[in-house]
Amino acid sequence: MSRKIWVFDTTLRDGEQVPGAKLNLYEKVEIAQQLKKLGVDIIEAGFPASSQGDFDAVKAVAQKVGNTNDIMITALARAVQADIDSVYNAVKYAENPMIHMVLGTSDIHVEKKFNKSKDQILQIGVDAVKYAKTLLPQVQYSTEDASRSEFEYLWHTIESVMKAGATMINVPDTVGFAEPEEFGAMIYKLNDRMKNLNPDVLLSVHCHNDLGMATANTLAAVKNGADKVECTINGIGERAGNAALEEVVMALKTRSSIYNVNTQINTKEIMNTSRLVSSFMGLDVQVNKAITGDNAFAHSSGIHQDGLLKSRDAYEIVHPGDVGLDDMELILTARSGRHAVKNALEKLGFTYMKPEEFEGIFEGFLKLADLKKEVYDHDLYVIVESYYEKHDKENA
Ligand code: KIV
Ligand code: ZN
Repeated sequence: MSRKIWVFDTTLRDGEQVPGAKLNLYEKVEIAQQLKKLGVDIIEAGFPASSQGDFDAVKAVAQKVGNTNDIMITALARAVQADIDSVYNAVKYAENPMIHMVLGTSDIHVEKKFNKSKDQILQIGVDAVKYAKTLLPQVQYSTEDASRSEFEYLWHTIESVMKAGATMINVPDTVGFAEPEEFGAMIYKLNDRMKNLNPDVLLSVHCHNDLGMATANTLAAVKNGADKVECTINGIGERAGNAALEEVVMALKTRSSIYNVNTQINTKEIMNTSRLVSSFMGLDVQVNKAITGDNAFAHSSGIHQDGLLKSRDAYEIVHPGDVGLDDMELILTARSGRHAVKNALEKLGFTYMKPEEFEGIFEGFLKLADLKKEVYDHDLYVIVESYYEKHDKENA
């Protein structure tokens, strides 16, 4: 039986930290509705202590999107009472609310950022969890900069906050420093110890993409026992971004024989969600971005186009329909062959061409393709029309 992986979406919190990507209340609620349709398990709607506007938006998400039990709504707090109160007062309207708090565990955070001892920081974390538990049953604790933390201190922190009542432990690779094998080994050890202490507490990961390894690190964590993945749509987020939800989910699905897990994501909603986030946040998706980029399902080489028309599996490991696109896209360029051009003409309704007519039209196509980067449908109409005009004149 395959294991369930929880998907926690932080597009509205970590994703919104992208400079210039600020959303208004209406946009946040619309995106949250779409994330619910996509099937995420948990939405992190914002950081309510940061501004009145964000508090109001998180509250609106809790009221309008968190009104059913099948989705959990959370928001971020530092491990201080005022932040925790702010999260509570914003998310408490949801059927299934959670408080998420963060406190660093690396020496850099403990000593340089907080100028405190490890014992002091540990105590602050434990007290904050105990306080949050007086407000809500669900509390997530994030050990910020976990991947650069001394392992036994990291574990001691996790063990202590679990005993204080944390129901989810999130292990962030805050600065994208981790490497898949090393991160996977760390998660394996933590999972082993956590499940011995309390098998009901979920182990989560939150990977950043500073070295381009956010998705790989997230997948390595899943392989090594992580129960939950934190992601954003289109991989947006602080600096180089977070693990992209669409990449993690489609990798788990496409390579299911390796991972043997399932998510409750409705993958057919991926493109709709990607486009909504991109348009509301004003952030273009890189054209070659895996899964959601414009070129992710576009084929331009003649050899590939020919192969695809014979068998789609030749160059397609994810079917466009699975992420909500109509079909694969064959880009007609000077490198396209007869097979692709004929296919494009047939789609436009030119199905009864004699072979010698097609050859004449293909010649016209090649002439135009040499002058242009791409030949579009409207160009094909002109090519066909001018071929028949010339042909008719010659035969008149
Ligand atoms: O990157 C990080 O460590 C975070 C935490 C708040 C989970 O965003
Ligand atoms: Zn983050």
